[in-house]
Amino acid sequence: MPITTPAGPAGARIVSLGHYQPDYVVTNHDLIARGVETDDEWIKSRVGIAERRFAQHESLLDMAEAASSKAIANSGIPASDIDLVILATCTQLFAVPNGSAELAHRLGITSPGAYDLNAACAGFAYAVAAASSAIMTGQARNVLVVGAEKLSDWLDFTDRTTCIIFADGAGAAVITASDEIGIGPVVWGSDGANATAISTRPETHALIQDGQTVYRWATSTVGGVALEACERAGVRPDELAAFVPHQANLRIIDMVAKKLGATNAAIARDIVTSGNTSSASIPIAWSKMLERGEIPSGRPVLIVGFGAGLTYAGQVVLSP
Ligand SMILES: CC(C)(COP(=O)(O)OP(=O)(O)OC[C@H]1O[C@@H](n2cnc3c(N)ncnc32)[C@H](O)[C@@H]1OP(=O)(O)O)[C@@H](O)C(=O)NCCC(=O)NCCS
Repeated sequence: MPITTPAGPAGARIVSLGHYQPDYVVTNHDLIARGVETDDEWIKSRVGIAERRFAQHESLLDMAEAASSKAIANSGIPASDIDLVILATCTQLFAVPNGSAELAHRLGITSPGAYDLNAACAGFAYAVAAASSAIMTGQARNVLVVGAEKLSDWLDFTDRTTCIIFADGAGAAVITASDEIGIGPVVWGSDGANATAISTRPETHALIQDGQTVYRWATSTVGGVALEACERAGVRPDELAAFVPHQANLRIIDMVAKKLGATNAAIARDIVTSGNTSSASIPIAWSKMLERGEIPSGRPVLIVGFGAGLTYAGQVVLSP
């Protein structure tokens, strides 16, 4: 006996973004004052970070809630009309319960589908792809996608190779049905052979990484992902209005942007003042670019996430 399924719309599109970052700013000099054996010039030249933000009083869900409230307010869609919530995160302190159900409850979203998604720094791009698929197959009408991380909970401040890089924050997007395709095909993949290149140690609660392995992998992989995402969306790199890669490292961002050849695009370089906020970095950087009026509405934007797993995902989307 055949099973019926609702017909989906022609496409899905991102309606709005919102972001939240803690007030507490920590400069490279502040890290040195805390006892980290490093120097400002080393961090700026190798990673590109001048300062980052750490949550002092905010929990991961507090930040997710603040970013989501802004995205929902910007969307004009009532919270009660959202029927799916996807929270991309890799820094929850516990496995159960998931964060998305409580986040939905806090936002006044009643009985949505709610799940957490862990693809580390690629999480936001994975979640956008999942939301688009759910809408286009008629499984959801309005989806809240959130990237939220509190990496400061997982940092070992005696490990100068990691504690200078990572930071806290959240970004969110509201995605809805559309007559046009506003979210292009995702290019996603993983490399589990390098699973230990970025990992957390349960016994010490610390994130560790093999920086050189990650650097080599990212610089040899992400440019190809970016080009393929453009090709599959039928958009030339010189037609992009913006390129918003995961804010991992300024050297990686600049190398990939050069390989991509997005000559007319605004390039996100939010890492300089925000650090690496994993799954939150793309929506934070993008939301700020929108607030500054750097990306015209309806123009193509390429997002590419990459990180622990190792995982990557990227797609061309139309900017809200
Ligand atoms: C982490 C990273 C910046 C380290 O740079 P690197 O050039 O590979 O540095 P190395 O590990 O080879 O160390 C070089 C020297 O700098 C020193 N060093 C490491 N961290 C330092 C710090 N925070 N401050 C000052 N010196 C530091 C090392 O001890 C080493 O000193 P030595 O030559 O006397 O032994 C670089 O590997 C990188 O960017 N990797 C990608 C990481 C990333 O993007 N992760 C996020 C993915 S989502």
